Amino acid sequence: MTQAGERTASGNLRVNGDRLLSRLAALARIGATGDGGCRRLALSDEDRQGRDQLMAWLKEVGLETHVDAVGNIVGILPGETAGPAVIMGSHIDTVGTGGKFDGALGVLAALEVIQSIKETGITPPRPLAVIAFTNEEGARFQPDILGSCVWTGETSIEEARAIRDADGKAVGAELDRIGYAGRVKPGFLEAHAYLELHIEQGPILHAEGGGIGAVTGVQAISWTEYTLTGDPNHAGTTPMRYRRNTSLAAAGIIAFADALTHDIEGLVANVGRIVTEPGNVNVVPGRIVMTVDMRHPIDARLIDAEQRMADEIARISAATRVEIASRELARFPAQPFAEELIGVVEQAGKALGLKTRRMHSGAGHDAQIMATVAPTAMIFVPSIDGISHNPRERTEDADVVAGANVLLTAALTVAHARPRA
Ligand code: GLV
Ligand code: MN
Ligand code: MN
Repeated sequence: MTQAGERTASGNLRVNGDRLLSRLAALARIGATGDGGCRRLALSDEDRQGRDQLMAWLKEVGLETHVDAVGNIVGILPGETAGPAVIMGSHIDTVGTGGKFDGALGVLAALEVIQSIKETGITPPRPLAVIAFTNEEGARFQPDILGSCVWTGETSIEEARAIRDADGKAVGAELDRIGYAGRVKPGFLEAHAYLELHIEQGPILHAEGGGIGAVTGVQAISWTEYTLTGDPNHAGTTPMRYRRNTSLAAAGIIAFADALTHDIEGLVANVGRIVTEPGNVNVVPGRIVMTVDMRHPIDARLIDAEQRMADEIARISAATRVEIASRELARFPAQPFAEELIGVVEQAGKALGLKTRRMHSGAGHDAQIMATVAPTAMIFVPSIDGISHNPRERTEDADVVAGANVLLTAALTVAHARPRA
């Protein structure tokens, strides 16, 4: 493994892999769940500790640090010119049962890339920046990818601050509480390009012999919450025909979501959260709150799925006499990445002797939002057995380091490229 800012025999710069792996391990100790996983829900105490650690590293490396009004953390290495920066990053919040790599890899690899370049003593032609976006996961506050949406202006800071979690705590109050409602305006740093390294979170690279994914774009995402209202009543005495049974209606929704995936090629659907009330074995549940997550690489197919689900909801409601209210939690269109930058990632992978293939992202990422304001691309590294959003999420050390070297090579290429017209 190469050391700090070291060059190979052919003169090419490589990251310090040991330093990156040791920072990943250190961040994973914050919010460690004891089963190999991490729980750093956005704006929780664990997220604050993770942020404090990241800020300490950014300062240690000597970067100019900023926290914006929605808590996005930015570290900048100035370039020869003060213009738009090559921004690299991801997020450090996790889902409730998260792993060590989702998000953390992209942020810490970006920091490592910038540190390795800084250690050469050569000033890059344009600024290089690392960013950790707030609430990418959407596990606590919906919608997800919130920090990047505020960064690009898609969502206002007022809208973001007003979003509440399931306990009624608002983003704004939680940002204030953990001390990360910063002063600078989100989006204060213009992006010449945005690059994000991430684990694949799916099985393809691992199953197909490893290597690097040059990501072509992110599929369209639709999250809906349904609130089902019936009559809570005695489960022994109430004849079936008298019931307004929310669990029966919920079962219909779950089965229909799955049936849609058989009908619409490429559609994925998930019911990830079901809360029944009162939740007793002998009470017909009077209320159920449940979520449906549907995704498709083609916008029109997802719109079709949404329409068919809405029709089925009306049919189920009429058949069961259960009232069903729906609320959109998140909705993002399919987002292709910049062809030129996908090519840069592909070339970087190949130049490093890595098997490199183009692939689509099944997961949502901050990159899909950054792609609306700047040329953007992502690099995927393999997830062992395709496991993610799970404490058993793992990526081989060699793949972590290879991914960071692809990020370094791509960032240097982009930093030296001509300004955009
Ligand atoms: C983000 O992790 C997603 O749900 O894709
Ligand atoms: Mn992620
Ligand atoms: Mn995730």
